[in-house]
Amino acid sequence: MFKNRKIMAIVVVFLMGITLLAGCSPAEEESAGPEIGIVLPTRDEPRWVQDETRFNAALEDSDYSVEILFSQGSSATELTNVESLLTRGIEVLIICPQDGDAAAAAAEAAKAEGVTVISYDRLITGTEAVDYYVTFDSIAVGAAQGQYLVDNATGTGNPLYLYAGAASDNNAFLFFEGAWNVLQPKIADGTFVIKNSSEAVNLQDNAELTRDEMGRIINQVTTNWDFNEAKNKAESHLTSAGAADKGDVFILAPNDGTARSIADTFATDGDVSSFIITGQDAEIASVQYIIDGTQSMTVFKDVRTLVEDSIDMALAVLDGNTPDTTGSYNNGVTDVPAKQTEVIVVSQDNVQSALIDSEYYEASEFTGLE
Ligand code: BGC
Repeated sequence: MFKNRKIMAIVVVFLMGITLLAGCSPAEEESAGPEIGIVLPTRDEPRWVQDETRFNAALEDSDYSVEILFSQGSSATELTNVESLLTRGIEVLIICPQDGDAAAAAAEAAKAEGVTVISYDRLITGTEAVDYYVTFDSIAVGAAQGQYLVDNATGTGNPLYLYAGAASDNNAFLFFEGAWNVLQPKIADGTFVIKNSSEAVNLQDNAELTRDEMGRIINQVTTNWDFNEAKNKAESHLTSAGAADKGDVFILAPNDGTARSIADTFATDGDVSSFIITGQDAEIASVQYIIDGTQSMTVFKDVRTLVEDSIDMALAVLDGNTPDTTGSYNNGVTDVPAKQTEVIVVSQDNVQSALIDSEYYEASEFTGLE
């Protein structure tokens, strides 16, 4: 009995010790807080999970502590994420806004705490509270998509279906502008005939579109960057189009996720004999589609470079230096100093050299590579 009590006492003291230690450690961690906070739009799209993976890889050996949070498609969650990072004492915020205008509130909250705000991939609009912008050349992305369609079209009267990203994303306008610059002369000369947007048809003689005009087209053909919305739109366009509007069709799809949805939908229509469809992001699933011939091209945006550029910027700021920039982007209120990265067109012809030989992906992630 006595012996049992003694053992019990030892156990109790031991357990108390563990409880005390467990109670201490989170508080200690919290006071150490991350220096850099990263907020990304959503885990529901492979594009942003790709960015998280590349950030983690790039920061593996860094002395700075970093925390990455996802907004899950909600500007309210985005603001809460930023506020929680501010409470934990970050000095630099790297943020890819869910909605460019709505994110102004989060950027302003960060600025008010003296935090440097770096807009990542998508520009935060309508506020002075953005210090820097790291981005790909988004006009070039759209131009490459348009050019691919042009290069694969012969003759006249080719049916053209247009799709766009979310109007809340400034990039959707840049992608569309880049594509329009290339496609419009080929619509004007009869190579292509727009089949799914009355607004685009009304504006088809204009070589340049105002933001408001682009907005009108985008509102008709937006996917909102959502796979289901892309599929539903494609279905309804195919339902209202007659057999004569189909045949060998050309599809401007804004990114890989929506391209796969739209391609799958067009593939089931008996009156569509073939289609050429664009994309961007070089998502693994789309690279497989390209190898299989069910997506025609993608625009490869090497996320490693964007991640590296934004980390370099953050570290320059933390070291008290001014980051390198290469130009600027106007966000409606101010010119934001920016660092821009070029993009690469990938089709079946160069999938091996652009994505495998460059060690962006491993060949084992795909089937049917030659
Ligand atoms: C990004 C694209 C992405 C899209 C949807 C854009 O702002 O630049 O890479 O596919 O958002 O998330």
